[in-house]
Amino acid sequence: MEKEFKVTPWEIEGEIDYSKLMKEFGTQKIDDKLLKRLEKHAGEGHFMLKRGLFFSHRDFDKILDDVEKGKGFFLYTGRGPSGKVHLGHLIPWIFCKWLQDKFDVNMYFQLTDDEKFYVKKDLSLKDTKKLALDNALDLIALGFDPKKTKILIDTENIKTLYPIAAEVAKKLNFNTVKAVFGFSGETNVGLIFYTTLQSAPCFLEDKRCLIPLGIDQDPHFRITRDIAPKIGKEKPALIHNMMFPPLQGLGGKMSASNEITAIYTTDSAKEVENKIKKYAFSGGKYTLEEHRKKGGNPDIDVSFQYLRYFFEQDDKKLEKIYNDYKSGKMLTSELKEYTIKKINEFLKEHQKKRQEAKKKLDKFLMKS
Ligand code: TYM
Repeated sequence: MEKEFKVTPWEIEGEIDYSKLMKEFGTQKIDDKLLKRLEKHAGEGHFMLKRGLFFSHRDFDKILDDVEKGKGFFLYTGRGPSGKVHLGHLIPWIFCKWLQDKFDVNMYFQLTDDEKFYVKKDLSLKDTKKLALDNALDLIALGFDPKKTKILIDTENIKTLYPIAAEVAKKLNFNTVKAVFGFSGETNVGLIFYTTLQSAPCFLEDKRCLIPLGIDQDPHFRITRDIAPKIGKEKPALIHNMMFPPLQGLGGKMSASNEITAIYTTDSAKEVENKIKKYAFSGGKYTLEEHRKKGGNPDIDVSFQYLRYFFEQDDKKLEKIYNDYKSGKMLTSELKEYTIKKINEFLKEHQKKRQEAKKKLDKFLMKS
């Protein structure tokens, strides 16, 4: 029987079949030709691209055309502040940082305190605003250039966003958002209007906008892209990453509010150790004897996925771990120990920079 899955900006269910999802959403696969073209301009590749974590796009080739014509582009991405930042959220931001370094471009980062207020029953606007300022520290900790990076908080920067949102809103009808998001008569009108705000930063500059993002956010920008020519603007280009699996394994969602599904950027070394040891789904065999004899399955092992897509950038080391685990030479306990060590090395640095980011926050916040 075929497995069912569902991907929306607010909900992920089941194990995602990414080829099917690309067809359903109408996006393009990132092929070798495109990768080579990007590498030519960037001077090198990025491991998240080479390993297929960024796998799909819309008009990314046009961004490269614009680079070749000397027109340039600008970056935009964001976060809905509903809780703590987890490792999955960092993926598009790390990639943005690389793009900013390679192409020396401006970036806008939107914190949608309004969106999460509309969606989360238990959060007040005060809560989501507070979380926005907290979550911003994770972005700043990644080393963005304050002269080229501006953070927008919807309820703070509404003066900048609203005129563009209104242009979009005039061309967007209720039937469209109903069809795209499955809204009903019970949906609050904040959410019905919300996509116009997520669209607005796409049009902050006259250049083409490039949005690195998880594929779950694509539906908002499908709408934006349909509307862009109707308001005399360039369609934004997108580059999508796969969803980093929750600790419990492929299928399901890392959650900002369910502690045991994800590793948060503020977790202590001990918490990381506990979470990986206790909850990280393993591709190992039930007994040591069987594992040694038959080997494990790295392709479904969560620790291995974390190494592949984030924490082990050395191709040779990764390949050795893959082979050793598959042959049974490496045990689950050893794979987990190694993953814990790698995550904790990253988090130690990140947490230090996150602390320092508190002093830099003001430089990043958009002033109007
Ligand atoms: P949010 O806060 O749900 O997610 C922030 C970014 O992280 C991506 N993401 C993931 N990527 C990999 N693995 C995961 N497990 C994972 N979980 C989340 C999301 O796709 C997103 O790119 N409405 C948005 C906020 C927003 C935004 C934007 C996002 C405003 N403007 C422009 C992208 C681009 C939201 O709630 O994202």
